[in-house]
Amino acid sequence: MHEQLFESLSGVIAPIETAATLPPACYSNAAVAEIERDAVFRTSWIGVGRSDQWKAVGDYSALTIADIPVIIIRDKSNTLKAFANTCRHRGSQILEGVGNAQSISCPFHRWTYGLDGGLRGAPDMPEEAAFDKTTHGLVEFRAAERDGFSFICFDDNTTDIDEWLGDFSELHAPWSLASLVTTRRLEMEVDCNWKGFLEVFNEYYHLPYVHPDSINSVYARPDAADQVTGQYSSQFGETEGTGGLLESTQQYALPAIPSLDGRNRNGTRYTWLFPNMTFAASTEAMWIYESTPLETGRCRVVMSVCFPPESIAHEDFEARAQIYYGRMDAALAEDIPALARHYKGLASPYARQGSFCVDLEPSVANFAIWYADRMRQAA
Ligand code: FES
Ligand SMILES: [Fe+2]
Repeated sequence: MHEQLFESLSGVIAPIETAATLPPACYSNAAVAEIERDAVFRTSWIGVGRSDQWKAVGDYSALTIADIPVIIIRDKSNTLKAFANTCRHRGSQILEGVGNAQSISCPFHRWTYGLDGGLRGAPDMPEEAAFDKTTHGLVEFRAAERDGFSFICFDDNTTDIDEWLGDFSELHAPWSLASLVTTRRLEMEVDCNWKGFLEVFNEYYHLPYVHPDSINSVYARPDAADQVTGQYSSQFGETEGTGGLLESTQQYALPAIPSLDGRNRNGTRYTWLFPNMTFAASTEAMWIYESTPLETGRCRVVMSVCFPPESIAHEDFEARAQIYYGRMDAALAEDIPALARHYKGLASPYARQGSFCVDLEPSVANFAIWYADRMRQAA
């Protein structure tokens, strides 16, 4: 199986004109998904959304990535931390959901850790000499915040975040991404492979067929994808009006992100931070999707929408923001059935590797190369 997979992945690593799409097994085969878990999710910097989820000291989220339960929490020095959500006593999961906590306390036997992961209290355990608290802190992973986004990485051998992101900050500087504020965060499950969800967001090819009456006419033919140095792909395209609203609601546009000028004021930049986070930086708003696998044919998706603080201060911001959310939901309601059909076809034993549309799917091809390369090293 591995040899065959290795073979078919080789066809992906080629100039887009002749490159093959990813092998269908990469979407639908459970054994391949296990290789992917290790080769992709456990060795990459994983996007975990916007940093303003954790505003105050002690704000936390418990989530599971690549079958690893994780705690993300803001510590006393306002640094974002990531820990294994596994108690150092006998291994119970500790936190659930989201909340605020000034210490991390295990519900099983009440071992309690500081926001730095250090063990502070362990009821009825012997004093210092017989039991060393300092060797029983939570396992820590690297966490990083850049341009208002947060990332974690399980593997200490992976390069640091700045090398990973390369010229990401520079390319996105016009949008002042760090200053944008999240006004909506919405979680859902979708019946497709996690990669399929990210792919459809990053290609223009399906717009006239899946979104003929909602958003298609807003988007002009895009520029070529940018040549970048980081682990991401990005493609800018001009828009007729704004990509953040439906064709029918364009008159409700909020002011542009103040720092934008020139062509950037009249278009949308679609960026895919490999492997699992993508966003559209548009004229007045940014909308983001994180996608992680639940099963081969089901993924957990989180949508976030952000605006500049100047727009949030606008008197009818709430009403206008709803119109933006309506556009996101309408496009999604059209994409989701297409994604379910996509997955059903891909899961057939007769599915074969296909080819890319050069102008309209370059970011999908760029991701496929990146992914194939990591999977080949593991296969
Ligand atoms: S497993 Fe956490 S305190 Fe016992
Ligand atoms: Fe779409």
